[in-house]
Amino acid sequence: MSPISLPSGFEWGFATAAYQIEGAVNEEGRGKSIWDTFCHLQPTRTKGADGDIACDHYHRYEEDIESLVKYGAKAYRFSISWSRIIPLGGRDDPINELGIAFYNKLIDSLLARGITPWITLYHWDLPQGIHDRYGGWLNVEESQLDFERYAKACYERFGDRVKNWITLNEPWIVSIFGYGNGWNAPGRSSTNPMSTEGDTSTEPWTVGKSLIMSHARATALYNRDFRDSQKGQIGISLNGDYYEPWDSNEQRDHDAAERRMEFHIGWFANPVCLAQDYPECMRKQLGDRLPGFTESEFALLREADVDFYGMNYYTSQYARHREESPLDTDFLGNVEELQENKEGISIGEKSGVSWLRSTPNLFRKHLTRVYQKYGKPIYVTENGCPCPGEENMTCEEAIKDDYRAQYFADHLDAVGKSCSDGSDIRGYFAWSLMDNLEWSDGYGVRFGVTYTNYDTLERTPKRSALLLKSMFDQRIDDV
Ligand code: NOJ
Repeated sequence: MSPISLPSGFEWGFATAAYQIEGAVNEEGRGKSIWDTFCHLQPTRTKGADGDIACDHYHRYEEDIESLVKYGAKAYRFSISWSRIIPLGGRDDPINELGIAFYNKLIDSLLARGITPWITLYHWDLPQGIHDRYGGWLNVEESQLDFERYAKACYERFGDRVKNWITLNEPWIVSIFGYGNGWNAPGRSSTNPMSTEGDTSTEPWTVGKSLIMSHARATALYNRDFRDSQKGQIGISLNGDYYEPWDSNEQRDHDAAERRMEFHIGWFANPVCLAQDYPECMRKQLGDRLPGFTESEFALLREADVDFYGMNYYTSQYARHREESPLDTDFLGNVEELQENKEGISIGEKSGVSWLRSTPNLFRKHLTRVYQKYGKPIYVTENGCPCPGEENMTCEEAIKDDYRAQYFADHLDAVGKSCSDGSDIRGYFAWSLMDNLEWSDGYGVRFGVTYTNYDTLERTPKRSALLLKSMFDQRIDDV
């Protein structure tokens, strides 16, 4: 494979998230999060898995940092568990110094080895305390104040050494999987006609607004009080597939593809990157179920200008127009999603999970679309896959992960091409440093470049980790 050409100073490394790897859920003062409750109260929803031990990273972080060193990573993206820092979550609740100490050790140890820390403030583990107290993300006014205070504590305690901040990870998933279809914590469903909880159909959109305003408060605070002294940068990580029309001769399918992306990405990127209202197609379909922004909220959004767009990219799909009235496909923009087009052509090669096919060419289109539409420098904050059949492999088989290595090579190639197309792409984080708790899919689905043995907690590098290292070692710095 010929070396890829990337802008000089390109950042690269691996990503993880607290609940997926840390374990130690009852140690050193950590409070419960909605994921602890979800896993334990409704074990069938996570295939019986929970994050009680996970990869035991809390006790083995030194070993994991050694892996980063071995893989030649320049940067490491991890998330902070809000309920380790503020066990009950609220703005008047006490700070847990032992939680602070853990992240200080992690940060210092990374820096001592020349690895740049990238912190995600929120990767889905809302403190149970504020969920119980006022409904958590369902309460727009309260949740944004608590998130702002939590962010402030992180800037104050870690910002002297941490210069890269991501406020939220994938707010679409938080809103839709948490409150739309109920696949993730706290497991509420807005489309269930049997719901005993009254009309819940506004919930995902209310939660979306809480997340947007929480992001805005945390970012505006950084810009106002910390940017000058700490000299860092701040952004958000948004997921979203790229969509091609199911029938390329059908204008309605072209429109459906665009609408689908607006419902997923524009929902957050319009207010966050452009300080603008939601896309029009959302208002048209959802009417007043979609909460708007007041003038003072727009003013805050303008103050909360971001430095970059964090892109989590995994796959793409075809979009087909639907005639029926929405509700069950509400969040998809009333679009049918398919992996084969009208001619039966597959969107990409199958991976180890049904929702993900390898689509590097569409990644290139996606990068271009996002860069042109939102105008922010892009960091790819997640990209990766499980290999076909990996779920049932032994360690020895799983580490020969040529499918994943090829996936990375193809997607990095797309990044290189997209840079030469003119997009400003500044970094790439592979998901994930190690196999970990894949949320409702439990531990069976493996995204790691390191194999995790969940009985012994032993880690074994896979081939893809070394392939990535050699790709980055050989890259051409395009000055
Ligand atoms: C995105 C999420 O941020 C991460 O937590 C998850 O494990 C990966 N996608 C893979 O599904």
